[in-house]
Amino acid sequence: MNPSFYVKNIPVYGDLILAPMAGFSDIPYRCICRRFGMPMSYTEVVSVSGILWNNKKTYKLLDFNEEERPITFQVVGNDEDQITEACKRIEQLGPDIIDINMGCSVSDIAGKGAGAGLLKYPSKIAKIFKNLTGSLSVPVTGKIRLGWDHKTRNYLEISRILEENGASLIAVHGRTRSQYFSGSADWDAIAEVKQSVKIPVIANGDVRTVADIERIKKRTNCDGVMIGRAAIGHPWIFQYKDREIVSIDEKIEMIRYHLQCMEEYYGSSIGVILFRKHAVKYIVGMTNATELRPHLVKSKSAEETISHITAHMNNYSNYEAA
Ligand SMILES: Cc1cc2nc3c(=O)[nH]c(=O)nc-3n(C[C@H](O)[C@H](O)[C@H](O)COP(=O)(O)O)c2cc1C
Repeated sequence: MNPSFYVKNIPVYGDLILAPMAGFSDIPYRCICRRFGMPMSYTEVVSVSGILWNNKKTYKLLDFNEEERPITFQVVGNDEDQITEACKRIEQLGPDIIDINMGCSVSDIAGKGAGAGLLKYPSKIAKIFKNLTGSLSVPVTGKIRLGWDHKTRNYLEISRILEENGASLIAVHGRTRSQYFSGSADWDAIAEVKQSVKIPVIANGDVRTVADIERIKKRTNCDGVMIGRAAIGHPWIFQYKDREIVSIDEKIEMIRYHLQCMEEYYGSSIGVILFRKHAVKYIVGMTNATELRPHLVKSKSAEETISHITAHMNNYSNYEAA
């Protein structure tokens, strides 16, 4: 099998990538998606300050399984020197790639000039990438939005800067920061990025179905497609299967397995609680989901979760009409 693209010298064998998602794209879920053919992992975002302060929770987010390689550590920060120092430290933990988050829209982060807030400071981005690519041995990549707001859609300038300063890949979420998740992702803008640089470009935003995957590929000509929200509770998307064609039995089996992975990784009580937000996503679109949801978000044990699901799901016959 030929690689779909390379991140510098690292081959990536597949083009559908799970988006980094804080609270969702943890080791258990990434490994499930990898079993479904997802070819490279991104950690949830970690803060530069957490790294520099040796915060245990931050470092826990950088755990990965060897089978996840190539594994990308994603970092968010606003100060070029601190970002370099933090990335040098975490490079020691053995990631294959380090990614700088320039897309996070949360006020606490973007408002302080980190995440999408960095897009306001192109020359700072240039320095960050110059420093990082000059001092790290692993490839450095960037995940961006289209700009801060509709008046400052500087994605082409930022993409050029990233490439000129040694970035090995750009993932583009086709929205501005001020859009948060509203409106729709501008795939034509992503296509412009792809046309303007030689490094691989990953298209991201609003891919919900297999038809969307085909459409965004055609429209942007990108090297890969990154899927976020639509992959929660639906790892089958990485096998090019829509929700509607996954059988109830397959879903129940996956829910059991995912829950078991969560318990193994986090311990039983925390694993079950953290699984709740996944559980409600596995049942999206199914008849009776509204009745089942309140039980799932209160469930205190694996047995309880599974018995609610099996009891309800066995009554499901199909999906609600879209
Ligand atoms: C719950 C949640 C958490 C997210 N966390 C991150 C993150 O840690 N790093 C990041 O770059 N983007 C993060 N994002 C943005 C996604 O990676 C992605 O760019 C965005 O959801 C658009 O893709 P989608 O339309 O396929 O969901 C997050 C999104 C969601 C919904």
